[in-house]
Amino acid sequence: MSDSSIKIFDTTLRDGEQSPGASMTTDEKIKIARQLERLGVDIIEAGFAAASPGDFDAVSQIASLVEKSTVCSLSRAVERDIKAAGEAVAKAKLRRIHTFIATSPIHMEYKLGMSPDEVIRRAADAVAYAKTFVDDVEFSCEDATRSELPFLKEIMDAVIQAGAKTINLPDTVGYTTPGEYGKLVKELSEFTKGRAIISVHCHNDLGLATANSLSAAINGARQIECTINGLGERAGNASLEEIVMALKTRSDAYGGIDTRINTREIYPTSRLVATTCGIEPQPNKAIVGKNAFSHESGIHQDGILKYRETYEIMKAEDIGWDKNRLTLGKLSGSHAFADKLKELGIELDKEDFNKAFKRFKALADKKKEIYDDDIRMIVSDETTETPQVYELVKLQISDCSEGVPSAAATIRFEGKEMTDAAIGDGTIDAIFKVIDRISGYNGKLNDYKVEAVSEGKDALAKVVVKVVFDEGKPAVMGHGLSIDTMLASAKAYVASLNSYLLMKDRLKNVKCDHI
Ligand code: KIV
Ligand code: ZN
Repeated sequence: MSDSSIKIFDTTLRDGEQSPGASMTTDEKIKIARQLERLGVDIIEAGFAAASPGDFDAVSQIASLVEKSTVCSLSRAVERDIKAAGEAVAKAKLRRIHTFIATSPIHMEYKLGMSPDEVIRRAADAVAYAKTFVDDVEFSCEDATRSELPFLKEIMDAVIQAGAKTINLPDTVGYTTPGEYGKLVKELSEFTKGRAIISVHCHNDLGLATANSLSAAINGARQIECTINGLGERAGNASLEEIVMALKTRSDAYGGIDTRINTREIYPTSRLVATTCGIEPQPNKAIVGKNAFSHESGIHQDGILKYRETYEIMKAEDIGWDKNRLTLGKLSGSHAFADKLKELGIELDKEDFNKAFKRFKALADKKKEIYDDDIRMIVSDETTETPQVYELVKLQISDCSEGVPSAAATIRFEGKEMTDAAIGDGTIDAIFKVIDRISGYNGKLNDYKVEAVSEGKDALAKVVVKVVFDEGKPAVMGHGLSIDTMLASAKAYVASLNSYLLMKDRLKNVKCDHI
């Protein structure tokens, strides 16, 4: 790695998944991992293998499939976790174990109940044990920004001695400031010079995660940990797209530090993560928010028409967002569809291609103009293989203008079709109730969102629901896509039920206190 390049360590699948309501199935994680590889991230933190059998399986499947990025699993500094991490990444071409323990006085005393000497011993033992599985070991000093500098130096010496190649200094609670963090990173990168790479990992509690990460970069950090769309615990992690585009756009201010990221894959990755987790970036989110490249003010529009750079510092195309580009229509055949997928960087096997093409033709019959975002959505919808335990066959709703809202549905379960009807306070309520009646589950709706995928009155509706099927357990997300909003709602609800059934085992362990 040249002195001017910095590694991008993506933790969307681990810290990102710790966002409330962002649980993903293994199949969804695999899809995101493949896209992260296309994006060019150096390291993919694929999960926390010891958390549950489902997490282990996701990490190990990703390890078998990803070739160009290093695949990493998180583990506490305990043997059981490290063993699970080592076994889960074993099949990866490039593999890493990331182990951590808290180093701040407040965490050591109240959370761990350990003395500083015990923490150093545990950290060094953990790294040495991790080295028996992989050569590439990263060690994190959790809550580094509230730790004492001499203690950080002591523990860093010990873990380097034990074989750690990367040392991460997380701002676990989002407490630091750019000036303070820059100073810490400068001092510790000089301290470790040539012995280990300094990594940074910032949380956004004070809205400073990107600024803190960039300050660390100009002060000697050579790895930045971040997530797509800034997903993550509480207020989230530093956002990958903001860091990468800041380094690129203001290369002059950041000393020419560069990354391996293919920026044209940023927008497709952001879309994939948003639709998979059902968490849309706020409209004014930098780089990937809906309004990030929209100019409302007449003065701005006039300026842009005269000379683009008057108000634009980046182009939407640079992040792979060819806005509102009309794509295909009713007469487009399979060749045009295949060309479009290639252009969007989507690779499908024959079976998935045929499914997606069939869906595209059905959509093109109803919708005049089809955009890139429509294509991305239908491909994602058709190729996500959450097993259809329950499958919606038919939906019929009452005339909304009269009487009590009602819905009738036919659902297939274990090869048998079951039909029932229900009334509700509104049509959506009636739809969800009839699905509950047929399945025997009683979901509590936590969140319901509907959004148009592209433009026009005939736009595809994307409905995202979050439903709790088990009191006290996290809500499970489901999404449905259709030109008809009611049908999309029913599909979303059934999808959340199917995901719940698939993740039931994982959710049992969710109340873990690992981080
Ligand atoms: O925020 C944090 O401290 C973490 C560590 C486990 C790296 O996520
Ligand atoms: Zn974190």
